[in-house]
Parts: sequence; C-alpha cells; structure tokens
Amino acid sequence: GSAAFSSRGAFILLEGLDRSGKTSQCERLLAFLTDRQIPAEIWRYPDRRTTVGKMISSYLSKKSELDDATIHLLFAANRWEKREEMEARLRSGCTLIVDRYSFSGIAFSAAKGLDLDWCKAPEVGLIAPDAIFYLQIPPEIAAGRGQYGEERYERLSFQKLVAKQFENLMNDDGRWHVIDAQKGIDEIQRHIQELSLPVIERCHQGAPLLDMR
Ligand code: TYD
Repeated sequence: GSAAFSSRGAFILLEGLDRSGKTSQCERLLAFLTDRQIPAEIWRYPDRRTTVGKMISSYLSKKSELDDATIHLLFAANRWEKREEMEARLRSGCTLIVDRYSFSGIAFSAAKGLDLDWCKAPEVGLIAPDAIFYLQIPPEIAAGRGQYGEERYERLSFQKLVAKQFENLMNDDGRWHVIDAQKGIDEIQRHIQELSLPVIERCHQGAPLLDMR
C-alpha cells in the first residue's frame, strides 16, 4: 500500500575541473528549485568546516604536507562523516545539489598515479548520486578564467591529467550528463534544469536511494 511509498529528495551532483563553473551553476539551480517550492540545499566537498575538512583545507592551501594516499583517504573520510546526515536530508524530502563528490576524489588521486581501483574502494557504500552533470571544459580555457595557481592542484598540466581521469569515469548508466561548460551561463543552467526536474520527480515518486558501487 501507500505506507511503503517513500518520497525523497534527489541527489544532484555537479562535477568538473577547477573553474568549470560548477559553483555558480549550483547556486542558480538552488534559486530555480526554491522558486518552484522544491526543498533543496547546496552541499559541497570538501566540507572544510569539519576537523577532517580543516586538515584537507590546510593541505590544499599548502600549509601542510600529506602523502597522496593519506589525503585521498581524508577526502573520502570527509564524505563518510557526512553520509548519515546526507541520507537523513534526502529521506526528509530535501533535494541536495552537490558541488563535487567521489568522482573528484577518484579523478584527482588517480591523476597523481595512484591505482584506480584503490582510489575507488573507499567510495563504495557512500550514497550514490541520482544524476551527475559533468561540466566539460578544455583545461586551457579553464586555466584562462583567472585566479588560477593559488591552491595546490591549480596547474594546467595537472588539470589535463584530471580531465582524462574524469572522462574515464563516465559511463552510460544514464546518470551522467556531459554539459558543454563553454556555453553561456543561462544556457547551461536551462539544460541542467530540464534534466534535473524529471530526476527530482522520479525520486519524489519513490525511486530507491542507492549506494556507490
Ligand atoms: P574545492 O573546494 O571545490 O575548490 P575551489 O572551491 O577552491 O575551486 O576543491 C578543492 C580541490 O580539491 C579541488 O582542486 C578538487 C580537489 N578534490 C580532491 O582532490 N579530492 C576530492 O575528493 C574532492 C572533493 C576535491
């Protein structure tokens, strides 16, 4: 009967290189959904507010050094420590617009040369996104967007390797959407909105919450 029917929010993920425009697209999507009375919030990773997040933030701003495996596991731990709260928010009916997640975790670490399967392992069991928008941009163009070079990964040569890893992670399970991040801000946003609404509707109709595999 209808008691088994669980309405939930959608987990909508935006991924892409640094300066691909994820953050402004997240903010616009939030405004759009809020306008339509759809409960939604933005989450972002790394979540620099937690104890683990502060270690990550210090590493990213080059105030501390950590080996590649350790920082990889800290990024994953930073998602695990929010897993329970994330599930509760989704089950309460709130749609989460998430700025980076496991795919950034895997792509950035694999780009350093860590084994791909090893990189994926700590992500298994986290909540899986319902839709993934990959804001695709040539690394050269992203690099030209300014303020590049302050944080640890903001080098063109490294971003090129990350882009390759992202492309390698995409699959055709229907959740991945490649968005041309060189289009205008409004056009990109319309595209994301059009693709998000049916996903939100499916989740509202009770599509099951899945784990990362
Ligand atoms: P972010 O805070 O999104 O960067 P900014 O807002 O400064 O653009 O992410 C910081 C960096 O961390 C970014 O280069 C991507 C990288 N990253 C990882 O290496 N692993 C991860 O798991 C995540 C979420 C991000």
